[in-house]
Amino acid sequence: MALPERVTVVEVGPRDGLQNESRKVPVETRVELIDRLSRSGLPVVEAGAFVSPKWVPQMAESNVVLARIERRPGVRYPVLAPNMKGYEAARAAGASEVAIFGAASETFSRKNINCSIDESFERFAPVAEAAARDGVRLRGYLSCVLGCPYEGEVDPARVAAVARRLSDLGCGEISLGDTIGVGTPGKARRMLLRVAEDVPVERLAVHFHDTYGQALANVLACLESGVAVVDSSVAGLGGCPYAKGASGNLATEDLLYMLHGLGIETGVDLEAVAEAGRFICGHLGRPPSSRVAQALAAKAA
Ligand code: HMG
Ligand code: MG
Repeated sequence: MALPERVTVVEVGPRDGLQNESRKVPVETRVELIDRLSRSGLPVVEAGAFVSPKWVPQMAESNVVLARIERRPGVRYPVLAPNMKGYEAARAAGASEVAIFGAASETFSRKNINCSIDESFERFAPVAEAAARDGVRLRGYLSCVLGCPYEGEVDPARVAAVARRLSDLGCGEISLGDTIGVGTPGKARRMLLRVAEDVPVERLAVHFHDTYGQALANVLACLESGVAVVDSSVAGLGGCPYAKGASGNLATEDLLYMLHGLGIETGVDLEAVAEAGRFICGHLGRPPSSRVAQALAAKAA
């Protein structure tokens, strides 16, 4: 299949990235990061998570973050909402897009959201219903699509079955997450094509972590199979607090460099994203893990 002419980049750094930092990042820094990212032309910037602050303290005060960001016209600012408590808090904070997050593996579901896959759907159902009623866009994440830290290999048919349930619930877009970054391109393509038998590929996004350095190659395999929405994280920040050993997400700078090199439009200014990466890494006290960010910095030095 031909590569897409345009790809929508979903920036998840302010959520998937910062949720995993041992040092809690202050609200004003989170706000400044989101504003820098939206000014770079990114069409979607995930802004926070309405989850239990006992489970993920890094995402506490996501309501304050949402209240303070500069909302640029045309930019979407989704937030995670695992249940009605999260949904209501997100709505009270002015969110117009929420994401529910489930897993293709039972054990990961329990470790991450403290319930089975079936129970998670009982919690998601009222969120989906309320979102449909309120005209709120609903995204669905599916974790462990290429492997689980507790159960190992995950059957693509199982991934497809849970993706189908998210779709039937009303998720307009489903992001397929290689949470621990163990996938390789052949496996990623096979998994995607299997899921696409149940959910149209136009409604699928991919979300790779780069633990084994395969994330870009996996993205390319999925672009060749019809995907045109890709999640990534500025400076390669990220991980998952409930997936031991998972490294950061695919870096947005690396993704943009590859897409632009392929002649694929994104509408995003790579240098502005790299600058946002330097800003947040300055606060975290370490260099960006993005190879492209490192190369750009070396060239400028
Ligand atoms: P639970 O303990 O089963 O929930 O947790 P509960 O309903 O029994 O409530 C327990 C306590 O949590 C109560 O407080 C509730 O009020 C509170 P207490 O009475 O003990 O003081 N609570 C909440 N507080 C704030 N916001 C809420 C909320 N809900 C309940 N929405 C729960 C269930 C889902 C809340 C919990 O397990 C949790 O917060 N987990 C966090 C999971 C998380 O954020 N993980 C990281 C994101 S997922 C990810 O990174 C993967 C992804 O990137 C894709 C990929 O890479 O694969 C998306
Ligand atoms: Mg993730």
